[in-house]
Amino acid sequence: MTIRFDDKVAIVTGAGGGLGRAYALELAKRGAKVVVNDLGGARDGTGHSDAALQVVEEIKAVGGEAMSNGGSVTEYDQMVEMVAKAKEAWGGVHILINNAGVLRDKSFAKMEPEDFRFVVDVHLNGSANVTKAVWETMREQAYGRILMTASSTGLFGNFGQANYGAAKLGLAGLTKTLYLEGAKYNIRVNTLAPVAGTRMTEDILPEEAFKLFAPENVAPAALYLVSEDAPSNAIVGAGAGVFQASYVTLTPGVRLTGEELSPEGVAAHWAQITDRSGEIVPNSGTEQSMLIMGKLQG
Ligand code: NAI
Repeated sequence: MTIRFDDKVAIVTGAGGGLGRAYALELAKRGAKVVVNDLGGARDGTGHSDAALQVVEEIKAVGGEAMSNGGSVTEYDQMVEMVAKAKEAWGGVHILINNAGVLRDKSFAKMEPEDFRFVVDVHLNGSANVTKAVWETMREQAYGRILMTASSTGLFGNFGQANYGAAKLGLAGLTKTLYLEGAKYNIRVNTLAPVAGTRMTEDILPEEAFKLFAPENVAPAALYLVSEDAPSNAIVGAGAGVFQASYVTLTPGVRLTGEELSPEGVAAHWAQITDRSGEIVPNSGTEQSMLIMGKLQG
């Protein structure tokens, strides 16, 4: 069973290099028409270049179809315009990979509010902007595949990346509501936490690991998660050909009443509250409320 993207139009943000470039090349190779978006800035988001154009040339050189877009994901109007151009040229937008990102690492003690705001703006608000720009089109088409790019920092934390981690877990949260709202319209939304050797990790990953952690070794997960038979609401980790799933879980917990319904009661039952045996993965926030109701009745 070959996974193909013929007759599909895909937008990949931040596709002028690194992971986004690998996704764009592979999508085009498998038949998708690809919008390569990238403003071509430096790692910290400053400056501009024609990085997107170069990837379009690469795609065209091997017979693929692509158009470049130099807009910033932080500018909603530019994203609306990008979607309009894709629809004008190719009749729709079926796939969106929100991949654009920047880094401004510093311990929280040294982080200026502006560095926090900027990183959240690019990753979280940026992804929301592009998603909003394609949402109505996907609803009308009754077809959409959207991938958010989180990070192990968002899911598990990392020293010096408070801004980045907050934005990245926010994207997993965005997935968890959009998958519910999109289900009726055949819109599936997933989250990918990649690990790859790119300029973003060049001072973290040792040189010899770079090859193993090539973006091409993450791309299979990204492509599956935007394919026709993709799951929805999955959180997938991918790096160096290793693929994992991550979950937000809930323990059965305990119901406290009377004198025990107190901070002391919570303290006394802490082991039971945090006991993971019988934990579940709720499919929505409502499910947690239903479980609480069930405990009240039982
Ligand atoms: P990268 O720096 O090569 O790619 C990010 C791209 O986004 C750049 O080409 C940049 O110009 C573009 N970009 C930045 N701001 C933009 C904006 N406002 N509008 C449009 N494009 C913009 O880095 P990499 O590693 O390929 O990162 C891709 C995504 O994967 C990012 O979201 C990153 O946070 C995420 N990620 C990467 C990991 C890794 O190990 N490389 C680990 C976890 C997450």
